[in-house]
Amino acid sequence: MRVPTSIPGFDELVEGGFVENDVILVTGGPGAGKTTFGIQYLYEGISRYNEPGIYLTLEESPARTIRNMWRFNWDLERLIKEDKLRIISADRPIYEKHSYQSINSDSNSDERETTIETLIKNIAYQMHEIGAKRLVIDSITSLKISADPVEVRHLILGFITQLEKLDCTTLVTSELPDKSENFSVEEYLVEGVVRLHTFRVGGRKNRAIEILKMRGVKHDEQIHHYSITDNGIIIRKGTASP
Ligand SMILES: Nc1ncnc2c1ncn2[C@@H]1O[C@H](COP(=O)(O)OP(=O)(O)O)[C@@H](O)[C@H]1O
Ligand SMILES: [Mg+2]
Repeated sequence: MRVPTSIPGFDELVEGGFVENDVILVTGGPGAGKTTFGIQYLYEGISRYNEPGIYLTLEESPARTIRNMWRFNWDLERLIKEDKLRIISADRPIYEKHSYQSINSDSNSDERETTIETLIKNIAYQMHEIGAKRLVIDSITSLKISADPVEVRHLILGFITQLEKLDCTTLVTSELPDKSENFSVEEYLVEGVVRLHTFRVGGRKNRAIEILKMRGVKHDEQIHHYSITDNGIIIRKGTASP
């Protein structure tokens, strides 16, 4: 079973859409369009397939997200009123507190587990309430508040494992420095990775999209141009090189 994003030009790169119930990562630098990609996936799911969705924001306030998405004429407030969309905002300081505790040797790591668990329970509860089939987590980078890579890996692994258990097709965003050649921990853990490249050619900003992996899918392996327009993201097939 496939879950089409209906983002113009995208689904044909992955044989029709995401595999149902997979966790897919969308990575890119600041301003690459990760939030737009995520909201577009939810918006199209609701308007074309009547599939309710959940958006978990770990960065912007829900009010800011709603306001920003107006520029694409996406009326998220209406979708929330119709019980087709829920925006959940997570409390970042909680993670900071628990991370701080677990760095210290007398830490109670159960408490941190509980925090992730509480967040997942909240998502599962809201999912059940509106019958959500699509979930977006924006962004997982906000959870990487520890300086200890082992700690970060443990936290991200725990979170993604819990997301995989949910009966939802999940898109997770993650922040990546421009032109980074390194892989981040979450890229190894998820079923699929979509990378949004931004780069400059002669002073002009260019955008290119690439499917790095999609387990069980004969996915496209080229790099394609994409633009952010008044109607959201559009992918133009044809090679682009970052
Ligand atoms: N109508 C528009 N036309 C062209 N570009 C736009 C439009 N609206 C927003 N953008 C671009 O979208 C980018 C923001 O995308 P966003 O999804 O917030 O990125 P990210 O979440 O990766 O930081 C901005 O950098 C801006 O250049
Ligand atoms: Mg964003």
